[in-house]
Amino acid sequence: MYFETGHERAFGTFPLKGDDLQSALETALDVGYRAIDTAQMYANEAAIGEVLQRSTLQRNDVFITSKVPTSEFSEEKFIPSVKQSLSDLQVDDVDVLLVHWPPGDDDVRPSLDWLQQAKQQGLTKHIGISNYNSIQMRTAKAHCQYPLVTNQVEFHPLIDQSTLQNTTKETGIPLASYCSVARGKVFSYPVFEKIADKYNVTAAQVVLRWIIQQGVSINAMSTKRENLKANFDVLGFALTEDEMQSITALNQAAYRIVDKALVPWAPTWD
Ligand SMILES: NC(=O)c1ccc[n+]([C@@H]2O[C@H](COP(=O)([O-])OP(=O)(O)OC[C@H]3O[C@@H](n4cnc5c(N)ncnc54)[C@H](OP(=O)(O)O)[C@@H]3O)[C@@H](O)[C@H]2O)c1
Repeated sequence: MYFETGHERAFGTFPLKGDDLQSALETALDVGYRAIDTAQMYANEAAIGEVLQRSTLQRNDVFITSKVPTSEFSEEKFIPSVKQSLSDLQVDDVDVLLVHWPPGDDDVRPSLDWLQQAKQQGLTKHIGISNYNSIQMRTAKAHCQYPLVTNQVEFHPLIDQSTLQNTTKETGIPLASYCSVARGKVFSYPVFEKIADKYNVTAAQVVLRWIIQQGVSINAMSTKRENLKANFDVLGFALTEDEMQSITALNQAAYRIVDKALVPWAPTWD
């Protein structure tokens, strides 16, 4: 869905709020971003709504993804929480609505039912999942009557997500990245600079190109115009198979940022 609609590069908005969020989002829109990734948990949907209202862009010009947290996983809370998101964002619907997390290793199906209700009620055009392991991806695929347009997960060169990638092939649920530059950790590896020199790009662009070249759509956050511009400008060059492999080899680092210590409600990862 993100690739098909030309929204394979999204501006990620966590942890930005208030003025910082508004200034970064205005810059992101100015450099060309049209896809925006937010979530109820980020507490920035109202600030995003204000920027969109002020801009000259029409609703159809932007592609908004938001997410429902596990705290809203109940018959009473789920749909009202989505309506609050829409009210904050000042839109009639979002383009993609995700369940932000599975309920640990518990049954994912009730939350997927409420997610599907949100689509049936016209509150979102598409639905998807986030932070699902491969078992949960298979359950979701079997359970849902609508296509799941993404599983948004931690994805960067320092973590091995090949099990999820294989499950994408099996289920047809594409992956989207978060922590795409491992919050800066990737820059301590010289291989990116070396490859970047060859293409006259930056290390970050090489990292993001490695992600997108695998059919994984990108969510990346920056507060700086120069970085936003670079992160958006990753379609004009292609890495060779050898370069792709030399970067993939770094996943031995097994560097997971969003782990159980940070998110105690995480499921058992692959
Ligand atoms: N689904 C989930 O559970 C989940 C979890 C986490 C994040 N997300 C989403 O994914 C988005 C991206 O993840 P993230 O923000 O956590 O991690 P990230 O994009 O890997 O890292 C953001 C950090 O990298 C720096 N950076 C970005 N581009 C750079 C560049 N070209 N050169 C140098 N430094 C650069 C930024 O600093 P500067 O501002 O200085 O450029 C920022 O501090 C989030 O904003 C959010 O929308 C989703």
